[in-house]
Amino acid sequence: EKARYETDVLIVGSGPAGSTTSALLSKYGIKNMVVTKYGWLANSPRAHITNQRTMEVFRDLGIEEEVIEKAVPQELMGNNVFCTSLAGEELGRLYSWGNHPNRMADYTLASPSKICDIPQNLAEPIIVGAAARTGSKFKFDTEYVSHVQDDNGVTVTCRDRLADEEFTVRAKYLVGADGGNSKVAENLGLPYEGEMGVGGSMNIVFKMDLSKYVAHRPSVLYWVLQPGSNVGGIGMGLVRMVRPWNEWLIVWGYDINDGPPEVNDDLAKEIAFKLVGDDSIPIEITQTSTWTVNHCYAKKISEGRVFCMGDAIHRHPPSNGLGSNTSIQDAFNLSWKLAKVIKGEANESLLESYQDERGPIAKQIVDRANKSIEEFGPIFQSLGLGEDIKPEQMRANMEKLKDNNPTSEKQREDLRKAIALKSYEFNCHGVEMNQRYNSNATIADGSPEEEFKRDKELYYQASTRPGAHLPHVWLGENGHKVSTLDVSGKGEFTLFTSIGGEKWIEAAKELSKSLGIHIKTVQIGPDRDYTDLYGAWAEVRDIKDSGCLLIRPDYHIAFRAKEVSQNAESDLKNAFEKILGK
Ligand code: FDA
Repeated sequence: EKARYETDVLIVGSGPAGSTTSALLSKYGIKNMVVTKYGWLANSPRAHITNQRTMEVFRDLGIEEEVIEKAVPQELMGNNVFCTSLAGEELGRLYSWGNHPNRMADYTLASPSKICDIPQNLAEPIIVGAAARTGSKFKFDTEYVSHVQDDNGVTVTCRDRLADEEFTVRAKYLVGADGGNSKVAENLGLPYEGEMGVGGSMNIVFKMDLSKYVAHRPSVLYWVLQPGSNVGGIGMGLVRMVRPWNEWLIVWGYDINDGPPEVNDDLAKEIAFKLVGDDSIPIEITQTSTWTVNHCYAKKISEGRVFCMGDAIHRHPPSNGLGSNTSIQDAFNLSWKLAKVIKGEANESLLESYQDERGPIAKQIVDRANKSIEEFGPIFQSLGLGEDIKPEQMRANMEKLKDNNPTSEKQREDLRKAIALKSYEFNCHGVEMNQRYNSNATIADGSPEEEFKRDKELYYQASTRPGAHLPHVWLGENGHKVSTLDVSGKGEFTLFTSIGGEKWIEAAKELSKSLGIHIKTVQIGPDRDYTDLYGAWAEVRDIKDSGCLLIRPDYHIAFRAKEVSQNAESDLKNAFEKILGK
């Protein structure tokens, strides 16, 4: 029986992972269709921290400006406040998301794009808009049910939830971007490691003008420590900015052993008033939901013609803001590979690199996000808070911070150190930016294992070692600044070289013809395509003028040669043959 729809790639889910995959595929000229369960996109703020790597993907897609218009800029994200309530005492602050004067340069140097904060319900329509404008087909109110794969494609059964009717779609590939309860992953039988439901949380979204408590210390996150305000427990709650400074989201824990509570308007208001510390400001609760803290990742992320991504393969708490960011990086990694294979420019073996490159990241970020929860421990300890301590005792312990004695002085020092440790959650630039790949789509050049000069999690380190991400520097185009990222990406391979690297350029031109794949070339130097405006390229490239770097469409470095060789053409050809599998 003939399928009702035919497409090249069927994507299940329109969250950050699915929508980005569809936008990229359409941009690369690949037919694709998205089926998504509900009538519209994310209906709550959800993920919001949007890191530089994600903004680079938006830049590549041409929607960075649109995102910036709706986003809260880095400057307003900068103070992580720890307090007893928003109206109450402040226990300490941590510069966050790169806003410490000592860290600003790290963030500014690392990317042409800036970190920002945009709630998911505002970001998704922008990505979906880009996708639909360029040809992606979206079917809302449509649920994935099951699939069968064969040698040539996948037949997917979906259900139109409005008509309550099943139909089939025939696609060459299926992408399961269907979130933390992925049915695609379940049907594939993907093996998972770790645990689901290690903690319980509720989200309360509300409107309340809190300017007088926050505008002088702008932040996205305000942590409230209020022993006794929940039954038992330490009483830590998070008041998170959704829009400055009149829309908020509270994250408040519940005991996972008791199951999710019913969060009605009265309970939601009670919690909000307690954490704000002021019940005189008008409040409107707009939404409540409960969720569980998970520590779980898929050890295998694809099977045959079906690829899973996003929360479907990594399930973790919001700490470090890695959820949607990692999902979008999964999409960026897979999309160009699917495009090259579907266009016949690469063999299917290229797709194997998705597992090798994104599998380890899934584990890394799930572990990191959960460790960040544990790293609140020292803050609790320094304040004398603990699950088995009575609330009045905990409050008395916190008061001791103010005393003039050696124990209290030590307590103050411990608290300062404990807050500083939280940079591993709020300034974790390395985790965001240092992803390295090692697969058949990167060609090792025999250079020694990379040594990180500073803490690998906290600090980004630029590298041109194959598998690393192309370092950003500003180049000159008729005196105007363009990023190395602006002159590469967009679905193509790009070869970077300088004066003396003409042989590489010729080789790229020849290979473009013989492989039927467009290879862009960028020659940097006086009177060449771009100039090394600030000398920053020469500093970071780690090759000689005549050497070359071959950059993949996702900005990762595929191949590096220190200098030109007599065999430039065959060296480059061998590299392409290995990457493309042909
Ligand atoms: P995502 O879950 O976004 O999307 C899944 C998509 O698949 C949806 O479009 C869904 O409708 C669709 N779908 C599911 N099953 C389907 C089926 N059978 N057929 C068709 N479509 C199907 N993260 C963070 O960093 N900070 C935060 O504060 C929060 N807060 C938060 C709150 C709530 C309520 C949720 C649910 C999640 C968060 N998150 C979060 C997590 C963050 O939202 C998450 O990491 C990303 O959205 C993951 O993106 P994905 O695209 O992988 O899945």
